[in-house]
Amino acid sequence: MTAHSVGRDAIRAAYLAPETPLMRQLAADCALDPETRSSISADAAKLVRQVRETGTVGMMEKFLAEYGLSTDEGVALMCLAEAMLRVPDAHTVDELIRDKITPHDWASHIGDSGSILVNASTWGLLLTGRVLEDEGPGVVGTLHSLVRRLGEPVIRKAVGQAMAEMGNQFVLGETIAEAMKRGDAMVEQGYTYSYDMLGEAACTAADAARYQEAYAKAIAAIASRAESDDIRENPGISIKLSALHPRYEQSQRDSMLPELSGTLLDLARAAKAAGIGFNIDAEEADRLDLSLDVIERVLADKSLRGWDGFGVVVQAFGRRADPLIDWLHALARDFDRKIMVRLVKGAYWDTEIKRAQVLGLSDYPVFTRKAHSDISYLAGARKLLGMTDRIYPQFATHNAHSVAAILNMATGTAGFEFQRLHGMGEALHGVVKEAHGTRCRIYAPVGAHQDLLAYLVRRLLENGANSSFVNQIVDLSVPEEEIARDPIEFAEANGFSANPAIPFPRDLFTPRRNSLGWDITDPVQLTEIEKARAPFASPYKWLAGPISAAAQAPAPARDVCNPADPNDVVGRITEAGDKLVTAAIDCAVEAHPAWEAQGAVTRASALRAAADIYERNAGEVFALTAREAGAKETCR
Ligand code: FAD
Ligand code: 2OP
Repeated sequence: MTAHSVGRDAIRAAYLAPETPLMRQLAADCALDPETRSSISADAAKLVRQVRETGTVGMMEKFLAEYGLSTDEGVALMCLAEAMLRVPDAHTVDELIRDKITPHDWASHIGDSGSILVNASTWGLLLTGRVLEDEGPGVVGTLHSLVRRLGEPVIRKAVGQAMAEMGNQFVLGETIAEAMKRGDAMVEQGYTYSYDMLGEAACTAADAARYQEAYAKAIAAIASRAESDDIRENPGISIKLSALHPRYEQSQRDSMLPELSGTLLDLARAAKAAGIGFNIDAEEADRLDLSLDVIERVLADKSLRGWDGFGVVVQAFGRRADPLIDWLHALARDFDRKIMVRLVKGAYWDTEIKRAQVLGLSDYPVFTRKAHSDISYLAGARKLLGMTDRIYPQFATHNAHSVAAILNMATGTAGFEFQRLHGMGEALHGVVKEAHGTRCRIYAPVGAHQDLLAYLVRRLLENGANSSFVNQIVDLSVPEEEIARDPIEFAEANGFSANPAIPFPRDLFTPRRNSLGWDITDPVQLTEIEKARAPFASPYKWLAGPISAAAQAPAPARDVCNPADPNDVVGRITEAGDKLVTAAIDCAVEAHPAWEAQGAVTRASALRAAADIYERNAGEVFALTAREAGAKETCR
């Protein structure tokens, strides 16, 4: 067993690890004494002041203000924009607006028009921070009066313009050639790029093929700019695995892994031949384990020997970040490679919190306090800076405190780079580059505006949160010292406790305990499920029959077989005859008044007790449903 395969267990064990002890450990791992921490905060406050003095930090704020995204109009605009992105031509867009928005008798059209506005509440939450309880009237009314005043073509133009503006803000170019040309000015100033071909979460094989082709073409185009023998000086590409396979999911692991790894290997070989960096973006937490399988398979391939451009992203907001870094280092050592590791905080925080709540998980896969992600980021940076024998660290952040801390920790180390997103952190990284001569790479999305939405939503969420650095730096009422505050001091003062505003998924409905969920993307839970259902595998048999209190005549029993395997007799069943059904209904009717008289509390507790029995016997329920429904294979 190799060192890196041992490390996989540690990563899996940390998936939902308790936050407080983990945070204490990570804070200690930062190895920053109070004096150093206050000097970092002072440096960071100075950086914030310098950035504010450049007067260029307001771009995002100006943009948001101009389009009023935190108003009803903003929500309406995003609803329309989302729909418009899917509509091919101007005429159809006008029809869509006319059909869905213009009707005067709104109430009679509300059902029809819902399709455009289904996400109104989501946009409302995103942009204004509130759920639109009366989803219809506010947003709808706004749209209605806008169309009445201005007409469909003007609305179409305005929405199109706003999308184009957002595109310009966040996308470097619609094609790789255009992007490289637009990037030339920054390259001349000493920046490098990692191009990201917009597109993710392929739904069909055709989507995946299209994205693969876009990556392949981009690699070929970027090759022309790879002029240095030192790969760190050359441009690179960022890849999203979810773009390359329509079934990039745990349940398809066995068939998906060889296919996706094959595709990725082809692209990696092309990147090697081009002499460029090739980075695997980190996506949702439920895909991390799968992505490591793909990464290991591809990196193991001997054809990639001698190339130092393979890159992986670590999300510090995830509770698995620390063992993941250890695993990556062991992987590089075991395969005798040098790799690049980009450290980010993570772009999917809201998604992860919501998913854990929907599934009723025992805890969250991400930290629940912003300061905890900041600390984890510093601990990750400290670790990566001690692994430069195998790892080229790439620190992607727009936060002046994180940058100042890294500069402090990296004193005397040249073997790392900073990274920022196109359209963000420009002034900060400009100041730092000039003062410290550090390398900086710009992550630059490339593609059509239709593919921008998912990326855009992540940026809006990231910058919209008032805890975010970008949000605070543009708010001149927040003092520099406050923005540059030491996250360790803050977390320590709160005992490294989890965020009380984010209850555990099981406590969401307190006083009622939420039902326990199973995450069937988590290998640890899958093993638990397997173990729990093993005693009920064939030849175990269930006996099923009527449970009515009504008297019943003996009835013949019959075998129930697994539809996927007729030799697997799941159990024996006795059906209720007509008479018994009638008697059972009579019984129920007779019992009804007494049951009703028990009151809601008693009835509810009976239901809860029943639900608890299901939960306690989950292994048996899973085994029964799978065998009866014909699942022959194990779920792994
Ligand atoms: P900050 O404002 O300091 O941090 C904001 C971040 O803190 C949030 O994004 C979230 O991660 C975290 N956070 C916010 N609230 C909470 C809370 N209550 N509890 C815990 N944590 C919280 N992201 C990916 O996921 N995958 C990638 O592959 C990826 N690639 C990137 C490449 C580059 C070059 C850059 C610059 C960013 C990339 N990102 C990626 C996005 C990155 O995760 C976000 O830009 C980053 O989280 C913002 O962090 P910050 O340090 O700039 O800002
Ligand atoms: C994202 O796509 C930048 O990879 C990061 O949000």
